[in-house]
Amino acid sequence: MSPAATKRIAPTPAGISEAAALLRDGSLVAFPTETVYGLGADATNGRAVAAIFTAKNRPSFNPLIVHVPDLAAAEALVVFSQTARDIAQAFWPGPLTLVLPVRPDVVSDLVTAGLPTLAIRIPAHPLAQELLRLADRPIAAPSANPSGAISPTTADHVANGLNGKIAAILDGGACEVGLESTILGFDPEPTLLRPGGLPQEALEAALRSPLRIAQPQTPTAPGQLASHYAPDASVRLNITQTDGTLLGFGPMECTLNLSPSGDLTEAATNLFAYLRQLDESTDRIDVAPIPETGLGRAINDRLRRAAAPR
Ligand code: TXA
Ligand code: MG
Repeated sequence: MSPAATKRIAPTPAGISEAAALLRDGSLVAFPTETVYGLGADATNGRAVAAIFTAKNRPSFNPLIVHVPDLAAAEALVVFSQTARDIAQAFWPGPLTLVLPVRPDVVSDLVTAGLPTLAIRIPAHPLAQELLRLADRPIAAPSANPSGAISPTTADHVANGLNGKIAAILDGGACEVGLESTILGFDPEPTLLRPGGLPQEALEAALRSPLRIAQPQTPTAPGQLASHYAPDASVRLNITQTDGTLLGFGPMECTLNLSPSGDLTEAATNLFAYLRQLDESTDRIDVAPIPETGLGRAINDRLRRAAAPR
C-alpha cells in the first residue's frame, strides 16, 4: 500500500475546518499546541487511534493524552476530585496534563491502554482550541514524531518524520513552549509523573505543598522509557569544555546556544529544534550545564533521556 502524500494545511478558518473534518472522518492530522505538535485522532474511533500507533511505529502499551477545548468537555470524560478541579482551573488551558479516573465507554480502550485512568489536557494554542471545538469530540494525540525520536516543534519537523504516513499537518509555525506538557497524577495525592512545560514550582505554589515525584519508568507512566527523546548522536551532559560540538546555555562560546542570556523559557523553546539541528551535523553533542530549577528540570529530564545508553 503506497500511502497518500501528507497535505500541509494553512491556519486559515477554511484550513481549520478542513482539518477538523479530516479528524471527524477518522483520519490522522498533526496540529500545533503550545508545547509540541500532536498527532491527532478521534479518541472515540478505535481504528483512528490504532492508526496513530502504526504511523508512529509506537509500542501499543503506551497510553495517549486526550485533548479537549474546555473543562465541561473534560468533566464528561474523567472524574475530578476537588484538588484536581482547583488545579485545572488554575492552569488550564496550558502546558499541563492531568491523569484522572476515566468514565466508562467515553474513549476507545486503545487510548488508555486498558488503564482505569485517562491523561487529559486543554491546550492553550488558539489553533488547537479552534480545531478541538470544530472537531467536537475528544482528540487523542501523542507528540507527532516517530516513536523514539525528538518531539516536533515545527510543521517541518512533523513532515520530516511522518510524511506520507498521516493525512495532514495543520501548520501553526513554531511551538511557544517547546517542551511536552507536565503530567500530574492523583493516586490519590498529587504526583508529578513527567516534568514539562509547567514548572513544578508553580504546581507546588498552587497546592501549597511539595509534590510527590514518581520514579521514572514506573508502570503508571509506561511512556517514560529512558531513551524516549533520543537523537542519533551520542549526548554528554554537564560539559564545560570541549573541542567538539557544544550546545550551550548562558554567556559562553559554543556551537549553538539555547539561551545566551541564560533564560530557561527561551532554552525550552529552542531545545528540540537545536538538538535536531546538531544531530544532522555531528555524531556527538556535548551539552553545557543547565540549572535544575523551573523549566530547567524538564529540560534536564529530556537531556538525560537523550543521553541515556541505548
Ligand atoms: O505536550 C504534550 O503532552 C504533547 C502534546 C501533543 O499534548 N503530548 C505528548 O504525548 O507528549 P506523548 O504520547 O508523547 O506522551 C504522553 C505521556 C506518555 O509518557 C504516557 O505514558 C503518559 O503520557 N500517559 C498517558 N496516559 C497515561 C495514564 N493513564 N497514566 C499515566 N501516564 C499516562
Ligand atoms: Mg512523545
